[in-house]
Amino acid sequence: MISTPDNVSQLLHQLDGLSIAEFLQLLTTQFPERVTFSSSFSFEDQVITHEILSKQLPVKIFTLDTGRMFAETYSVWNSTNEQYNTKIKAYYPNQDTLQQLVEERGPNSFYESVQNRKDCCFIRKVEPLRRALAGNAIWITGLRAEHSPDRHDLPIIEWDESNKIIKYHPILHWTTEQVKEYINKNHVPYNPLHDKGFVSIGCAPCTRAIRPGEDFRAGRWWWEDADKKECGLHVHEEPAAKN
Ligand code: ADX
Ligand code: SF4
Repeated sequence: MISTPDNVSQLLHQLDGLSIAEFLQLLTTQFPERVTFSSSFSFEDQVITHEILSKQLPVKIFTLDTGRMFAETYSVWNSTNEQYNTKIKAYYPNQDTLQQLVEERGPNSFYESVQNRKDCCFIRKVEPLRRALAGNAIWITGLRAEHSPDRHDLPIIEWDESNKIIKYHPILHWTTEQVKEYINKNHVPYNPLHDKGFVSIGCAPCTRAIRPGEDFRAGRWWWEDADKKECGLHVHEEPAAKN
């Protein structure tokens, strides 16, 4: 184990009063080469990418390329590489498992059942995520509390039992306005779908724009019940039921 649940309270204490960049720097000093950030090129993720790359912090950045992302997402990935003179690393689904899934169930099986959808998310995102996180101590994400009730009570630093890693969500409590202001002020490249009613953006066949007043995640897997809308990247273990 590279980080432990015991590190969480100490880190929470150290976070007090530090800017995001200062705390990221502290993390990379305590866990050299073992701090990694997952980007889906969302508004939120672009804020964190800018913090890391414009200040040249030694934080690794990766994306999970599911193969089904929007053309606009690939464009913002490309413009980010160009603007910051970098090459964001991508992790891909296992070729054999993906081939088997598509051969057996077809290219759009996720619309047919929740199980099919979860299997697709597992193959295209969750398993590659495990490879991306292996050997790391700290996983930085762009999760924001405003996105869903499940995320309201998240701690800014938490232990992720399923991946055995500490997660840090630097902009968990930022408002949408703060995110937009940061992006505009710093001329950060962003996904143009955000200007067309898309708030939470995942794979193209599984994401739609939302209407004013709709829940932020209403556009994700819109054909499913609201309580099933997680893909397995961010799992929170429920306490075991008592009888
Ligand atoms: S998800 O669980 O519904 O897919 P969401 O889109 O809200 O996640 O994004 C939350 C955070 O998960 C992002 O800020 C990012 O850190 C990570 N994430 C989501 N999708 C990807 C992806 N395709 N590649 C890398 N990181 C991702
Ligand atoms: Fe598959 Fe849709 Fe999940 Fe993307 S979001 S991995 S296309 S089910």
